[in-house]
Amino acid sequence: MPGIVLIGAQWGDEGKGKATDLIGTKVDYVARFNGGNNAGHSVVVGNESYALHLLPSGIINPHLTPVIGNGVVVDPEVLFEEIDGLEARGIDCSHLKVSEAAHIIAPYHRTLDKVTERFLGKHKIGTTGRGIGPAYADKINRVGIRVHDLFNAKHLHDKVEASLHQKNQMLVKLYNRRPIDVDQTTDELLKLGERLKPYVANTGLILNKALDEGKTVLFEGAQATMLDVDHGTYPFVTSSNPTAGGACTGTGVGPTKITRVIGVSKAYVTRVGEGPFPTELFDESGEWLRQQGHEFGVTTGRPRRCGWFDAVVNRYASQVNGLTDIVLTKLDVLTGLKEIPICVAYDVDGERHDDMPTDQAAFAAAKPIYETMPGWDEDISNCHTFEELPATCQDYVKRLEELSNCRISAIGTGPQRDHIISVHSLID
Ligand code: IMP
Repeated sequence: MPGIVLIGAQWGDEGKGKATDLIGTKVDYVARFNGGNNAGHSVVVGNESYALHLLPSGIINPHLTPVIGNGVVVDPEVLFEEIDGLEARGIDCSHLKVSEAAHIIAPYHRTLDKVTERFLGKHKIGTTGRGIGPAYADKINRVGIRVHDLFNAKHLHDKVEASLHQKNQMLVKLYNRRPIDVDQTTDELLKLGERLKPYVANTGLILNKALDEGKTVLFEGAQATMLDVDHGTYPFVTSSNPTAGGACTGTGVGPTKITRVIGVSKAYVTRVGEGPFPTELFDESGEWLRQQGHEFGVTTGRPRRCGWFDAVVNRYASQVNGLTDIVLTKLDVLTGLKEIPICVAYDVDGERHDDMPTDQAAFAAAKPIYETMPGWDEDISNCHTFEELPATCQDYVKRLEELSNCRISAIGTGPQRDHIISVHSLID
């Protein structure tokens, strides 16, 4: 019953799609467990590229079952746009299963996300504006709308009314906006529910049965460790648990069924949105990484902030997620550098920290302590084994492995699907 969790080990955009590709063909189910359409990844099949935000990457493969777990927040309009887009290109999405307990992103969540960010001014989080935070806030406040609520008109009306009661006061009195109409919102949600119904299922039961029957389930994380609402750089985080534990709460599968936890890390680091980032580069090397690595967001198009590899973050990710393997992506981007700095520890007000400070004020004040490794000039995209990599490149990877407290099992060497070196199998 292999239950494999795949998560981002940094601040997101690590290239999780590449790792999913490596295991995707060998799995029976791909289940998303957190976040919503704030995520974004491109899946390349043959000459076709598909940009997905909400659907699990497995949707492209007709032989496996894609699942949206209860921990995901679902914007039905976005879901249908993605389904329509794929079906127009000949991809059948009828095998998709959506948890009946997943929470819905309603139009008012999107409105609130935008007005709150504006209101926060210089304290803003830099959210994707997709309504993620407000939808999760409603879930925790116990005024959220779940998928199964969309199938009962009276019940839904009551829930929308309860949810909008306080929000309308806020919208009108605090944000100077028009109130949102309860009847109209209920009608819109009911219509969306009708279309959603064929996909809705008891996904917790399906996944548990599958694991009991010896099937392989890949739990696909969105966002990443440092954006986790509990373990990340709070408050500059997303509103869910993208760490490995979230795979269990976000799907209804117990931790004893998880057999492998794979963390995906870029050979350097990027971040979008606000928040501290110790190794961020503000000089031409940051711009060089951005251009070489095409570091612009799939979801928002925003240029990503770029910095050197931060081993403190990776050690922390190994610890928080209980990583068994790391997939190191975009190593080729570093080709051509004479020297490559690696952040091995932080200096916080003159004191060395080898571990992640839990106090966010200390993290914000952290200055990277660098160690420098020699770079390489050779094109590595044609290397198919670790031994074929230039010696200095091998040394860089070995040092990252040592500093991360976890073995590196695969290495991304270029943009194509097959530009990957497999060091240890990710599936057995
Ligand atoms: P939210 O998830 O839209 O609420 O945004 C909260 C923070 O998480 C912002 O800094 C976003 O830029 C960041 N974020 C959300 N989703 C992703 C992602 O998929 N990759 C990278 N950053 C993300």
